[in-house]
Amino acid sequence: MNKISCAIVGGTGYTAGELFRILLNHPNAEVVAVQSTSSAGVPVSSVHRDLIGETELCFCDELPSTDVLFLCLGHGLSADFLEKHPITPKTKVIDLGNDFRLDPHFHSALNNSARTFVYGLPERFRDQIVKADNVANPGCFATAIQLALLPLAQSRLLREEVHIHAITGSTGAGRGLSETAHFSYRSNNISIYKPFTHQHLDEIHRSLSRDGKDPLPPLNFIPVRGDFTRGIFATLYTRCPLSEKEAKALYTGYYQHHPFTRLSEFTLSLKEVVNTNKCLLHIHKHNEYLLVTVILDNLLKGASGQAVQNMNLMFGLDEKAGLYLKSVAF
Ligand SMILES: NC(=O)c1ccc[n+]([C@@H]2O[C@H](COP(=O)([O-])OP(=O)(O)OC[C@H]3O[C@@H](n4cnc5c(N)ncnc54)[C@H](OP(=O)(O)O)[C@@H]3O)[C@@H](O)[C@H]2O)c1
Repeated sequence: MNKISCAIVGGTGYTAGELFRILLNHPNAEVVAVQSTSSAGVPVSSVHRDLIGETELCFCDELPSTDVLFLCLGHGLSADFLEKHPITPKTKVIDLGNDFRLDPHFHSALNNSARTFVYGLPERFRDQIVKADNVANPGCFATAIQLALLPLAQSRLLREEVHIHAITGSTGAGRGLSETAHFSYRSNNISIYKPFTHQHLDEIHRSLSRDGKDPLPPLNFIPVRGDFTRGIFATLYTRCPLSEKEAKALYTGYYQHHPFTRLSEFTLSLKEVVNTNKCLLHIHKHNEYLLVTVILDNLLKGASGQAVQNMNLMFGLDEKAGLYLKSVAF
């Protein structure tokens, strides 16, 4: 079988670099082009410097026709890119930005093309993803929070308000420098941002409420900037009628056929998932409160790893192909 030809757009960015690293070792896929607006013509390994000796590819300006195109651009730029670069309809598109997570329809009168995107959370929409030509990859916080709440929501047991405290590494904000991404601010520091209003709440609401069919309780989400580079560690608690044993059985049953999401018996620490495509969950009951802890790597299960997982499903491959990764562990 020929390898799946892949192109990546937004090549110098963090998610693009991570995608390229995974695909270099994927048994069924090959990256034939990495497009960059800022660095066309220079070797990919001159930007993603750990790749020295692993690729001779240079960033390109024009894209060849490929089986799949990954868009790793900032928010709002994917639709613009598709508008300006007519992509052949036979090329499948996986968008890591947020352009099509809420409104799945793309239509361009300019280049006479239309695409409809499926929301790419395999633990919720795998049946649709395997048939999809276009996937909108979820946000990193959105993935963590949905995976922590999905079994409750799907069983109509998510009735009481949820308190969510989630801390993220600095790579979650991309490679661009800002005051709060600066080493002097971030190092030895901790801070909150966008309390109760983070943009991922919209996609979380949409998928957990089944497009508004099931009413959801308030999700009180406080995002926190952490003093580390990668990973998300979140705790969520809510009143719940299930005992701890019943909740564990519910979560284990829900995720039994999903290879990357697992309930752990042990309290979690972030390095168990950093550098892997895993999402780990832990459950604890205290009086009437159910506490769910969730951890994942924002650049892998929260972005590029999940994008490859979606590619595997869209092309009928083993869902785990190319994603047998090694955690840093300690
Ligand atoms: N970082 C994460 O953990 C994470 C997780 C989930 C989802 N996402 C989403 O994935 C997308 C990419 O994220 P990222 O972290 O890879 O971002 P990033 O490091 O900032 O990279 C984005 C890349 O987009 C390209 N670009 C093209 N036009 C641009 C413009 N006008 N302004 C800025 N960049 C432009 C640049 O690459 P060239 O100069 O090479 O063209 C840039 O390096 C975003 O939509 C982000 O929200 C990120």
